[in-house]
Amino acid sequence: MVIDNDLKQITQLILEAKEKAHQETSWEPKPEFTQSLKWPINCSIGPGLEGAIVCDTKIGYVNGSKGWLIYQGYDIFDLCAHSSFEEVSYLLFHGSLPTKDELASFKQKLNLYRNIPQTIRQLDSFNIEGMSPMASLRLGSELMRQQKGNLIEEHMQFLYPGISADEDSIPMEKKPIGEEKAIYEFESNEKESTELLDSCYQCIAGLSSIMGAIVRLRSGHLPLEPDPDLGFAANLLYMMSGKKPTPLEERVMDICLILHAEHGINASTFATMVVASTLSDIYFSVGAGIAALNGPLHGGANQQVISTLEEIKSVDNVKAWYKKLRAENGKVMGFGHRVYKAYDPRARILEPLAKLLVNDKPQMQEMYSIAKSIEAEVMEDMGNEKKIFPNVDFYSGIVYKALGIEPEYYTPIFAVSRVSGWTAHVVEYLKKNRIFRPRAIYVGDYLNEFISIEKRK
Ligand SMILES: CC(C)(COP(=O)(O)OP(=O)(O)OC[C@H]1O[C@@H](n2cnc3c(N)ncnc32)[C@H](O)[C@@H]1OP(=O)(O)O)[C@@H](O)C(=O)NCCC(=O)NCCS
Repeated sequence: MVIDNDLKQITQLILEAKEKAHQETSWEPKPEFTQSLKWPINCSIGPGLEGAIVCDTKIGYVNGSKGWLIYQGYDIFDLCAHSSFEEVSYLLFHGSLPTKDELASFKQKLNLYRNIPQTIRQLDSFNIEGMSPMASLRLGSELMRQQKGNLIEEHMQFLYPGISADEDSIPMEKKPIGEEKAIYEFESNEKESTELLDSCYQCIAGLSSIMGAIVRLRSGHLPLEPDPDLGFAANLLYMMSGKKPTPLEERVMDICLILHAEHGINASTFATMVVASTLSDIYFSVGAGIAALNGPLHGGANQQVISTLEEIKSVDNVKAWYKKLRAENGKVMGFGHRVYKAYDPRARILEPLAKLLVNDKPQMQEMYSIAKSIEAEVMEDMGNEKKIFPNVDFYSGIVYKALGIEPEYYTPIFAVSRVSGWTAHVVEYLKKNRIFRPRAIYVGDYLNEFISIEKRK
């Protein structure tokens, strides 16, 4: 009964946040939805491809002035209030919410694909304790690729038996499988596109098991097998901690995964798409996404938010801390966004969840109060004038910390969720694939006379 009330309360909190968000930005003009592109198009482009349009998409839409985040037509608030990560992942790929049967068969596939004992065993043979979690996650994606290659290899051996010196000896050579396999998934007829979807599901499910194994290995424990009775969020928490989560913890983790699953053509999604556009394979593409997300300008600000909150220690210190930071022109971690010039809807959802979770954790209540106090300072100082609001990273650290997760795992968890968005964009883009090839303006010299090394100064 208490559990039911908690879960109902979460839905209620999200719907209240939605109401508030919509009221605050109702005066902003409605976005102009455009038709599919007719190439070539004119657009102004800033450094870092700012403003560049690279494709049309139905997967995700971010409207910065209204504070909207939409997945395949559905408002992020509604998805968080009523849906699950599995349902949302299905939606991202297929464009519609699944029926009961479709969801059951999708979950069954994810369950099957999160069982990757050989990959985990291979991962265990590396020095995972000595590597950063993001590097380990990327390594894990590479090992999944290897595993897939091995499966194909077994099949290929059947088709192309090894060439043996005589009938009794073991095969000495086998057909090389490298490139031939690599482009296998990206062929475009019906059969292969099912193959591509299955590989995407493998990446989503497999990375969550790899994440669990990384946390376990780094804390001196053996990796755990996935629990087929648990949903995606609960199983992720279980594989990381060894404890089955409470329904409240499971629900909150599920919401975090939904919130991070997709965000338009951001740096890591673009990196994934660029690699896929060369017709490399989905595992290499996901590896590129993980690499891009690792940078401090993309993933990871929530880790720094937690350090800041711990450093400030008490609400009484916030004003002095803020004054000093501003005097030194420092940036407040977890605030501001390239696209959102309104309150980030993800932060709107996470803030009340953080408050709810610290309720029975006295040691974290001060941390939450410090965060609220920083928010008040920043909003008064820069909210109206500079449109600086909390972003997704400001409250997500508190939520993860309340779930007992160490800060070093925040960015890899982000990757475990975002792999849905990355791979959905790849599937969509490959339908009309064209290799990405922007250009630069050459500003160097030309026609220099070659100077032999003896004469160079
Ligand atoms: C996210 C971020 C990189 C967006 O950058 P951007 O769109 O290029 O915005 P800018 O850095 O140009 O900022 C515009 C103005 O707002 C100020 N500003 C932006 N974010 C700020 C922050 N977090 N704290 C203080 N001032 C900030 C800038 O100093 C700048 O002021 P100016 O016009 O007086 O020079 C930036 O807001 C930031 O560094 N935030 C902190 C890190 C963070 O939370 N990252 C996670 C993002 S999800």
